[in-house]
Amino acid sequence: MNILGISGSPRPNGNTAYAVQYALDTLKQQGFAIKYISLSGKDIKPCTGCFKCEKTHSCYQQDDMPEIIDAMKESHGLLIGSPAYFGMVSGQLKTMMDRCVVMRPSYGDPLPMTGRVGGAIACANSRNGGQETTLQNIQTFLFQLNMQVISDGPPYSHLGATIAGNAQDDSWGLETVKNLALNMAAMLKQNHPVL
Ligand SMILES: Cc1cc2nc3c(=O)[nH]c(=O)nc-3n(C[C@H](O)[C@H](O)[C@H](O)COP(=O)(O)O)c2cc1C
Repeated sequence: MNILGISGSPRPNGNTAYAVQYALDTLKQQGFAIKYISLSGKDIKPCTGCFKCEKTHSCYQQDDMPEIIDAMKESHGLLIGSPAYFGMVSGQLKTMMDRCVVMRPSYGDPLPMTGRVGGAIACANSRNGGQETTLQNIQTFLFQLNMQVISDGPPYSHLGATIAGNAQDDSWGLETVKNLALNMAAMLKQNHPVL
């Protein structure tokens, strides 16, 4: 089964990149095929709300979104990480999420991400710098794609994985990242979503 990890940070080697790749490494050790996409440097144009994609299921704008949509559709599990920006997801990630409107149902087509397993990772500078609200931004997106949204699972089973400060130094935060990945592995092994 395939896992896609997306870092929503504009920094290619920052905390979110580290945390998402830490989760992917854990899933690789569990036997999953992994793919990593960083939004850093990606050309993703904002949704213009034209609704042309309701008919065409693709966007008229030429940029890097098609490879991201294709990778999402090929994934059984999707991990999305973001830095907390004012307690919310980064603008880069929100722009990517809005462009996923091409996967919303219309004209009787089902939601392509239905039943896939999704989890969220948030990185902030402060211990309570808005990680949980950032997780909820991501989880709301996953819910609206009709995915199965998971917590970080045992032993804490909170809202997802959270990093405070420098990811590499945050051993407790990295434990939540690992637990999220292991919970995703357990969920996928119990219930293999059909692509
Ligand atoms: C525009 C902006 C807004 C930020 N807002 C917050 C915030 O609300 N709370 C917080 O603790 N840190 C905030 N930070 C700090 C980042 O969340 C933090 O440095 C994070 O680890 C960066 O992740 P990255 O290295 O993956 O980019 C902000 C940083 C930027 C650039």
